[in-house]
Amino acid sequence: MVEFRRDLYRGTAADYDRFRPPYPPELIDALLTCVRGRGRALDLACGTGQLARPLARYFNAVDATDQEADAVAFARDKARRAGLAHVHWRVERAEDLDAVGAYDLIVIGNAFHRLERSTVAIRAHRALLEDGVLALVWANSPLRGDAPWQRAANRLIDEWRRQLDVVDRVPKGWRSAVDADPSEDVLRRAGFRSFRRDEFTASTHWTIERLLGFVYSTSFLNRAVLGRQQSRFEHAWRETMAGFSTIDAELSFALETARA
Ligand SMILES: C[S@@+](CC[C@H](N)C(=O)[O-])C[C@H]1O[C@@H](n2cnc3c(N)ncnc32)[C@H](O)[C@@H]1O
Repeated sequence: MVEFRRDLYRGTAADYDRFRPPYPPELIDALLTCVRGRGRALDLACGTGQLARPLARYFNAVDATDQEADAVAFARDKARRAGLAHVHWRVERAEDLDAVGAYDLIVIGNAFHRLERSTVAIRAHRALLEDGVLALVWANSPLRGDAPWQRAANRLIDEWRRQLDVVDRVPKGWRSAVDADPSEDVLRRAGFRSFRRDEFTASTHWTIERLLGFVYSTSFLNRAVLGRQQSRFEHAWRETMAGFSTIDAELSFALETARA
């Protein structure tokens, strides 16, 4: 089994929250249409609350858990300031979920591939009410693509990852492990049924500085990884990206749902 480090996002909470594009409202709407009850929802591997917060408008209570303490602290503080008293934040590994028949909806945003998928699928199935919904939500990165600015940005990022000797922070082989045992099969074995996938796109416009913020929200080259080299990287980034006046990216999002 491919195992991810447990501290990959340490130090990224503020950048993650500020620079990750939100999930499109149409995706949230589509998610809500397939969920029958509005009692309790759970955001597993919640990060700083990219799904918990929009869902909070619609559910009586929302639990949100993540293994990284600083993401949870950031999210809790932001929600408190927004008056979202019915969202309960907890530091917890998704694999340790032990609720039984508690939730109308469990969401996992951009994270299922990072988890021990079989364990989480079995526990999520047990934690859902009958007919409850598990939703895997996905977003791609603005850095993915073949535009000249994307190629230039990726060349620089790759060069710095090599220089800093951090290429292996994200385990090699995670994609082939997922391909070898697709998530739908994992969920089916755990008892889920009624699979559905919907895709969405959103046009996004970036500046050089906002895209730098996005890089700092990643697990592979954030401020903690750069450490004392941060200002040298920023200098190289601005020099490399200065030639690109238009930085537009079409982002794709996916919503995969299954019923307990
Ligand atoms: C790419 S971020 C996604 C954050 C947010 N859910 C979103 O949709 O943007 C991945 C998150 O998964 C969390 N994570 C990874 N493995 C985990 C695990 N085994 N249990 C709980 N959280 C985990 C990380 O700490 C990180 O916050």
